[in-house]
Amino acid sequence: MLILFMNIGIIGTGSIGATLAQKLMAAGHQVKVTNTRQPAELAQKAKELGASPATLQDVVQDVDLVFVSIPLHVIPKLPAGLLRDLPTEVVVADTSNYYPQRDGKIDALENGQVESVWVAEQLGRPIIKAYNNILSQTLVAGSTAPGTSGRIAISVAGDDAQAKQRVAELISATGFDVVDAGSLADSWRQQPGTPAYCTELTAPELTQALAAAVPGKGPQVRDQIMAQLTQRNMPPTRDDLLVLNRSLGMGV
Ligand SMILES: NC(=O)c1ccc[n+]([C@@H]2O[C@H](COP(=O)([O-])OP(=O)(O)OC[C@H]3O[C@@H](n4cnc5c(N)ncnc54)[C@H](OP(=O)(O)O)[C@@H]3O)[C@@H](O)[C@H]2O)c1
Repeated sequence: MLILFMNIGIIGTGSIGATLAQKLMAAGHQVKVTNTRQPAELAQKAKELGASPATLQDVVQDVDLVFVSIPLHVIPKLPAGLLRDLPTEVVVADTSNYYPQRDGKIDALENGQVESVWVAEQLGRPIIKAYNNILSQTLVAGSTAPGTSGRIAISVAGDDAQAKQRVAELISATGFDVVDAGSLADSWRQQPGTPAYCTELTAPELTQALAAAVPGKGPQVRDQIMAQLTQRNMPPTRDDLLVLNRSLGMGV
């Protein structure tokens, strides 16, 4: 298979953005990153990750693909036009999830708008939704080689088949199988509280889980899970989160 190495910009160097930077660099891509820190601290973080530091304006320039990996409530505060004005061939991928406990209540999402459809509106351009339904701990430690039995899958949703394919190639290069979850409007099936959300499934299992999602149920399950997590004294482990997501989200 011909591998096309990409120039990638990542906005956010938290649990997901930092791990993506490391894995994408390891897979041979060129990665630059940004966060909210002063230049010296950003440079130190980028060095730790093996990526290049960039300002917010520069991280999206001269790249093939941008990951937006920041808390959802920050997305409308990004500078107007930052992503909207990029060439149409630049793929923008969104890893975000809506947690009203963190993001505050957003009326459109409370009224059922699909999260990534709202994100695309805020950014003013089409996006691909990916890496939102994998725990950061799974992203760090759950990679395996293609063909490995039980390989964990990540679903990808979006309206542009070519853009989706580029993101799918990155998912595979970072150690996971890929399931096409359909259009951006279909991506509610991989939002928090659904059977496909952070439940570490193989590709056939994830396909079934996406199909099993019940409209309107995700937010209710998400809030039940958050309520259980806030009662704990210790931060949850990957296993704790998996057990909760599977027992409440999948009903098993
Ligand atoms: N954690 C998970 O398991 C997980 C799994 C799947 C998806 N997600 C979703 O993916 C997104 C990122 O999650 P995360 O856990 O990586 O978040 P996180 O650990 O809280 O990190 C957020 C990152 O965003 C940066 N940031 C915030 N505002 C910014 C701005 N205006 N410009 C540039 N950078 C900005 C922060 O910068 P500083 O470092 O300077 O503070 C930080 O690096 C969220 O929407 C989350 O819901 C999370």
